[in-house]
Amino acid sequence: MIRTPVCDLLDIEHPIALGGMGSASSPAMTAAVSRAGGLGAMGCHYLTPEQVRERATAARKETNKPFGMNFLLFDVREDSFAEALKLRPAVMQFAWARKDQELKSYFDRSHEAGCKVTYMAGAVKEAERAVKAGADVIVAQGSEGGGHVGWMGSIPLIPMVVDAVGPVPVLAAGGFADGRGLVAALALGAQGILLGTRFLASVESPLHPNFKQAIVDSDGHDTQLSEIPDIAAGQVWPGAMTRLRRNTFIERWAGREWALREHRVEVIARLRAAREAGDIEEGPLSMGQDAGLIHDIPPAGEIVTRIAREADRILRERLPGMLQA
Ligand SMILES: Cc1cc2nc3c(=O)[nH]c(=O)nc-3n(C[C@H](O)[C@H](O)[C@H](O)COP(=O)(O)O)c2cc1C
Repeated sequence: MIRTPVCDLLDIEHPIALGGMGSASSPAMTAAVSRAGGLGAMGCHYLTPEQVRERATAARKETNKPFGMNFLLFDVREDSFAEALKLRPAVMQFAWARKDQELKSYFDRSHEAGCKVTYMAGAVKEAERAVKAGADVIVAQGSEGGGHVGWMGSIPLIPMVVDAVGPVPVLAAGGFADGRGLVAALALGAQGILLGTRFLASVESPLHPNFKQAIVDSDGHDTQLSEIPDIAAGQVWPGAMTRLRRNTFIERWAGREWALREHRVEVIARLRAAREAGDIEEGPLSMGQDAGLIHDIPPAGEIVTRIAREADRILRERLPGMLQA
């Protein structure tokens, strides 16, 4: 099986991590990924301190393996972050700081609590800034990915980040969904992969079954980058758009963002209801272009072992035959 130095650093068996998906995270999914030897993650972004503790406790009931707790720095809740530090997770997973935000104190506090620090960056300068502040691992995230992403595609971004921050290990994110993706990421210089969309279509994912099925049904060509969900939510992200499924809701407001701002309150209420009802045309579904590579809804642990096995097979059986003596 493939093992890279980041496996030792993070105390995991396979170099495969779950993205901390604030809006689509569950203790069962976190624990399932960690139990299978990957690095589970818990999206803590929208959680109160009580919810942070409850969810971490629930995940720990299911596994004693390490997992990460994820915070979006640009509007981090200090009380929830302080609670997470008390829980001393193996990894504190950060992303999306404001340009003027100071990172070092968050990273130092995490280190003092015994956590390793990962930081997700969609640009080389962001990765360099995080390493300077003491990050142990950089997640280089390309714009193919689901959710909030930057402007660079994974293929050029990952080796650029590897060159800029080495020897600090890099995990590749954005567009990876199978063993082929893991091998490609390793070839680009990364030490592993971090996935979001693939795990959304898993048994333990908290998404409504209709949304999981929409990922399976996608051919990967039906995503787009948009600011519409953030405008509706009244959130200003530092330099990000959301990659999500193009649906009736997005088409209704595209080019009419000014009107969306005017009707924000009623629109957000309708969005929440659509999400709960599993209405895939009226509820936003963040997903990456790799949705086109996802054809089933297996247990999250099986996704980890399947990717590890497929990558191992490619390295042992397919690639060596391409080398001339
Ligand atoms: C629904 C959804 C929510 C996400 N929320 C977060 C988040 O709260 N914090 C974070 O660091 N990344 C978040 N991400 C990004 C993932 O961590 C990861 O970078 C991305 O999903 C990788 O691309 P992929 O979807 O092609 O695997 C989210 C992604 C999705 C699809």
